[in-house]
Amino acid sequence: MAMLALVTGLSSTAWAQTAPEPRTLPNGKTWTFDADAGRDIMRTCAACHGEFGEGGGGGVYPRISGLHPEYIAEQLRAFKSRSRENIPMIPYANDRELPEKDVLDVAYYLASITPPRHPPADDIAMDAYERLKLAKQAVQIPLQPGDVAAGKALFNADCMECHGRDGQGRVKKPPLAQQHMPYLRTQVGLFLSGQRQHEDVDELMRPKSAKNWEDLWAYISTLDD
Ligand code: HEC
Ligand code: HEC
Repeated sequence: MAMLALVTGLSSTAWAQTAPEPRTLPNGKTWTFDADAGRDIMRTCAACHGEFGEGGGGGVYPRISGLHPEYIAEQLRAFKSRSRENIPMIPYANDRELPEKDVLDVAYYLASITPPRHPPADDIAMDAYERLKLAKQAVQIPLQPGDVAAGKALFNADCMECHGRDGQGRVKKPPLAQQHMPYLRTQVGLFLSGQRQHEDVDELMRPKSAKNWEDLWAYISTLDD
């Protein structure tokens, strides 16, 4: 897989390429990462988030592949405790359906998938199954209208510190690059209305005009190119 990523040259940052340390679960048992269990759990998520966590519903369902594993786990716990409201996921994210062991297995499984930025080019030799798999995993964000240079200036001033240079994200800070635009736009609406929490929303988000947002999205939509 590492070779393939090199050959196609299309991958973005990957977290969790080494096996995570075992840890003690709330029930006292020891968790060690079980990638097969993670893949099995992902079947129940695939209807909305896609087979490989690439996102779906025209970008309403976020890409969850290649995110930082501890960010994924934290969001799943927030859905379970309802501190982050997510009505579609209520039947899937509760203690019975998704105990802590499953949270960790699916989080580390998803983190191990690096979504390519493009489907593999036709002239790269690979077997048909691998080609299909990479094409399904690919996440490419359509360019958004707006002033890219102005958006970049806003991003570097207000967002880069946490979301990383080029929007790749950091530990427990989600990427904005290569994430679906309808989802990101919805999240900003939720932050502004207080339905989801974001640091310093009154300083970072509330003062921005509609044009500022268009420019930010225009810039962010270029980051996976
Ligand atoms: C019925 C559809 C549906 C299913 C099934 C589903 N999800 Fe989701 N998921 C959503 C929606 C909708 C959101 C976005 C909610 C919002 O707007 O805040 C989301 C958000 C997320 C996020 C947050 C992403 C981010 O960037 O913050 C994670 C992580 C996630 N889902 C993981 C999972 C996992 C793991 C499963 C399977 C156990 C799953 N989901 C099953 C609909 C679904
Ligand atoms: C002080 C750190 C910090 C700064 C600065 C910051 N963010 Fe965030 N952002 C976060 C964290 C942490 C989260 C995840 C919140 C959570 O845990 O639910 C987040 C989440 C988001 C999300 C949702 C992503 C997802 O996958 O669900 C969007 C959209 C977002 N931020 C946009 C922005 C924009 C635009 C800026 C600049 C105007 C910005 N943020 C600046 C820390 C920051």
